[in-house]
Amino acid sequence: MIRAVPTIPYSDQRPGTSGLRKKVRVFQQPNYAENFIQSIFDVIERERAGATLVIGGDGRFLNREVIQIAIRMAAAATFARVVVGQGGILSTPAASHLIRRRGALGGLILSASHNPGGPDEDFGIKYNVANGGPAPDAITDAIYARTKAIDTWYMEEAADIDLDTIGVVQVGGMSVEVVDPVSDYADLMETLFDFDAIRTAKLTMAFDAMSAVTGPYATEILEGRLGFAPGTVRNGTPLPDFGGHHPDPNLVHARALYDTMMGPEAPDFGAASDGDGDRNLIIGRGRFVTPSDSLAMLAANAHLAPGYAGGLKGIARSMPTSAAADCVAAALGIPAYETPTGWKFFGNLLDAGMATICGEESAGTGSNHVREKDGLWAVLLWLNILAVTGKSVDALARDHWARFGRNYYARHDYEGVDSVAADALMCDLRDRLQSLPGTALGALTIAQADDFAYTDPTDGSISANQGVRILFEGGSRAVFRLSGTGTSGATLRVYLERYEPATGNLDADTGAMLAEIAQAADDLAGIRRHTGRAAPDVIT
Ligand code: G1P
Ligand code: ZN
Repeated sequence: MIRAVPTIPYSDQRPGTSGLRKKVRVFQQPNYAENFIQSIFDVIERERAGATLVIGGDGRFLNREVIQIAIRMAAAATFARVVVGQGGILSTPAASHLIRRRGALGGLILSASHNPGGPDEDFGIKYNVANGGPAPDAITDAIYARTKAIDTWYMEEAADIDLDTIGVVQVGGMSVEVVDPVSDYADLMETLFDFDAIRTAKLTMAFDAMSAVTGPYATEILEGRLGFAPGTVRNGTPLPDFGGHHPDPNLVHARALYDTMMGPEAPDFGAASDGDGDRNLIIGRGRFVTPSDSLAMLAANAHLAPGYAGGLKGIARSMPTSAAADCVAAALGIPAYETPTGWKFFGNLLDAGMATICGEESAGTGSNHVREKDGLWAVLLWLNILAVTGKSVDALARDHWARFGRNYYARHDYEGVDSVAADALMCDLRDRLQSLPGTALGALTIAQADDFAYTDPTDGSISANQGVRILFEGGSRAVFRLSGTGTSGATLRVYLERYEPATGNLDADTGAMLAEIAQAADDLAGIRRHTGRAAPDVIT
């Protein structure tokens, strides 16, 4: 029996950089999740009958409840089949893979990525399309429009299913398949990387799963299939509140791992992943690798892994990501693409076979094997490269800089800033863009200033206002943009970059190398004046 439930619209359901993210309390309002899910189903009304839908999440607070709701609503929406991860668990890259492998119409991924979880923290719903990637703007815009007009949502009147037992059950006319969330994904990794070489190299490693979704994946792949010692995976059980931590693999929230890797007992390799498993942190013994450098180093060495032995078609990076990857693309004689922030822009390039490896400064790296960034994929490619070359992370990084030069890089985040003040800062900058070239700030001179706009080479679509770029003479740069994923106030991100050629100073302190640019950025944008903040909350 299908029940139609009357509802009224919420006005705040516009998806951001990566789906709809709100506080759990917001999602707990009557009909809130239902309205959003129904709006997705309404937008795909013509294709959904008889189709397959993948559902899974990162295990955070509300995950199971919303999955049960989504299953009942999918049955009413005449899907033929739902594929759901056991326990409601699917990492974002594993969900992307499952959508592709099962020929699904799409998937619902329940996550707020690296944001904290729990009754007072964050939840999110993201719709991914048939290529396994996040829905493009045309679809998310249509979903948002629908949320403003919705008056009814539909569900099959059925009890909760048992999410913990693998097998197939019926909900109305739809079958629900509860699958092992790990095995398909782990099999895919075995096709891309030389597991024998990694096993034989006998490397030591520490992996921090941050009490989030990658725990089961890392335990199976690293300790199970690759033979790393038991205990290699730390915080390996997904918890609804991530143990009270931010599951954000950066130097602030993965501090314990960083300290291990800088200490006397450090293993060869350290890594961490975020709430939903799409981000990565890479630290060698005594050597932190920035995500921008990691992208460049992986691209330069990817041919050492079986899945990429044929070479790369192209490398894509988001605009705020450092230009280190561009240097590699130039050396390999392949195209480099610069896209707006957010993984969805890479999907078209991957689908068109124009790029093979993509990455963002925010610790997201991935390839054409799925249509999301993939934390464990980056870890395994690093392990494959270390195993084949026999080099340490530090030696590999030094060799890389000696060949390509070094892009010193940092991101300064000002979190929970008053939205009006943040908007004023950005407006103020935008208004002055045309007059900035030629302006001197300390020893730096502005060569060019613009608001980044992207024309997608595959479909000609244009995305404007993607961040203010201040390019200094000599190749240094400051970029300003507001986060599209925050759930309270505004987050101002300031991205700082300075290029040192291979003949330059390759072994300096990043903070010292960027101090002048940081000062210039503050002077130029009036960060302190607009926000009242004297220093960033997080530096990554
Ligand atoms: C952030 C990152 C961005 C990433 C996104 C989703 O978005 O900066 O690179 O794609 O999370 O993981 P932002 O909050 O900056 O809009
Ligand atoms: Zn994530």
